[in-house]
Amino acid sequence: MANPSPRRTSHPGSRIMSVASYRPRTEVGNETVAALIDSSDEWIRRRCGIESRRHAAPDESLVMMGAAAASKALASAGIDPLDVSAVLVATMSHRGRATTVAPLVADALGATAAAAMDLGAACAGFPYALATADALVRSGAAGYVVVVGAERMTDIIDDHDRGTAFLFGDGAGAVVVGPAQTCEIGPVVWGADGSHSEVLRYDETGILRMAGPEVFRWATSVVPDVAKRALDAAGMSASDLAAFIPHQANLRITSVAAKALELGPHVQVATDIVTNGNTGAASIPQAMAALPDTSGPALLVGFGAGLSYAAQVVTLP
Ligand code: UT7
Repeated sequence: MANPSPRRTSHPGSRIMSVASYRPRTEVGNETVAALIDSSDEWIRRRCGIESRRHAAPDESLVMMGAAAASKALASAGIDPLDVSAVLVATMSHRGRATTVAPLVADALGATAAAAMDLGAACAGFPYALATADALVRSGAAGYVVVVGAERMTDIIDDHDRGTAFLFGDGAGAVVVGPAQTCEIGPVVWGADGSHSEVLRYDETGILRMAGPEVFRWATSVVPDVAKRALDAAGMSASDLAAFIPHQANLRITSVAAKALELGPHVQVATDIVTNGNTGAASIPQAMAALPDTSGPALLVGFGAGLSYAAQVVTLP
């Protein structure tokens, strides 16, 4: 190999340096959604805990929202966009398949030296991307990595579908990952079960269709199991946690998991879904950003279409 580029050095660990969120301007209450699906505010609150969600306006594209969250995260970490070596965007709602979102986000950030790629693991996408960023930084393949979760779920939801229209919302969240002397992003526990992919799938027109009760049953069994394995992998117990931040799929799934983990009252349990809905791959970083006064170890668990899941313990910035 002629004149190989000098390799970056590897690092003992990586850490989340900052977190930020972008919430679309338009707040949509349950009454508005319920009117289209013969539902009610009371039913929606009882079945999933949601009171309102955000819907993106035409100018609030995936790229715009992802770049807005990432830009805030970079500013808060004090990192120049020119020093970013990779931008990873987790999304399941990008409909313009001719291109990917990450290069456009990198361009909007001015991260002109960065590698950029999308990562498709649906609502598990953020912990998948975070594990990838951690590996890139520790190996020395990347210095600073921007990890974004961004969704315009309203682009892939049928607003007359009783099973999904009330559940999903739009938005973006982002973190900056950089080198550390210790492992502040713990070992990932991840996996997938494609044999049940039909319960959460795109139809022939690209609209997301969900067998809700089946997904609910799967989620309430897989989340506590994966969460416990991620704690074991990090050498921690639930009592060591400062926060539990699962994918904001349904408040009832969060409650079942929190109970199974026997979380003490000192553990902040993310409930961002109440005013943000289920924002797919964006929900974990958005929920993390909504806990600004919490520091210490947090357990993240993503799960969704694939079926895919991933969990890790991280130190909150
Ligand atoms: O983010 C990716 C992963 N996704 C998830 O984890 C979501 C998992 N699934 C869920 O969260 C829940 O299945 C939903 C919140 C989507 C639905 O709640 P559910 O308790 O599973 O409702 P269901 O589909 O079992 O329906 C219960 C009842 C039925 O009536 P009967 O048969 O008991 O008389 C439905 O016809 O509620 C009725 N129903 C509705 N009523 C008002 C179903 N959808 C609605 C609706 N409004 N939108």
